[in-house]
Amino acid sequence: MTGGLFISFEGIDGVGKSTQLDLLVQFLNEQGRKVCRTLEPGGTDLGREIRELLLHRKGEVAPRAEALLFAADRAHHVATVVRPALERNEVVVTDRYLDSSVAYQGSGRDLGFEQVRNLSLFAVDGLLPDLTVLLDLDAEKAVARRNKTGAEPDRLERAKTEFFESARQAYLKMAADEPKRWLVIDAELSVEEMQKIIRARVQELLG
Ligand code: TYD
Repeated sequence: MTGGLFISFEGIDGVGKSTQLDLLVQFLNEQGRKVCRTLEPGGTDLGREIRELLLHRKGEVAPRAEALLFAADRAHHVATVVRPALERNEVVVTDRYLDSSVAYQGSGRDLGFEQVRNLSLFAVDGLLPDLTVLLDLDAEKAVARRNKTGAEPDRLERAKTEFFESARQAYLKMAADEPKRWLVIDAELSVEEMQKIIRARVQELLG
């Protein structure tokens, strides 16, 4: 159906996803590949408005409303950015995708793994990544890393450590259930070591 390669990065907040994403995009560019670097939530104009609602709006957002807003962002993102880029044979690298919803809303918010997975699959009309890189780190360590940056936490980042530990366990379960799609990396490794593992797997997929 599609000719490109679709890669997603996952992990709880504070594990260092964007650094690894930057380095992978640099590697792909150096190889002369056309790359579409994107993110959820907020990979489109509509998505940036939804992102504001999700992360910076004052007041409560009911858990099911939160799940539906992430799904709406994703549906529009896949239809208008991800699929068209794959059809142009590009390598799509996204900072978060549907597994974030299963981990954060399904497990963290307790809405149910299967229900949120099904909602997410509906949003993307079944499109799964060829590779999902999980940067795995203990929730306490991830929270400590985030606090060190001094950045103001957004609405989701203000959740308790247990919320992130629950999301982390959901990620590990998904990775164990679908080992072909997932590459689990210990986020306590050095930036260089992590990147080496990621590049090796991506190179294999590109052939
Ligand atoms: P992200 O953009 O990775 O955070 P930041 O730019 O602040 O580092 O993600 C925003 C937050 O949204 C993050 O806490 C994870 C959360 N999230 C969900 O809860 N469900 C989802 O489906 C997605 C995509 C993100």
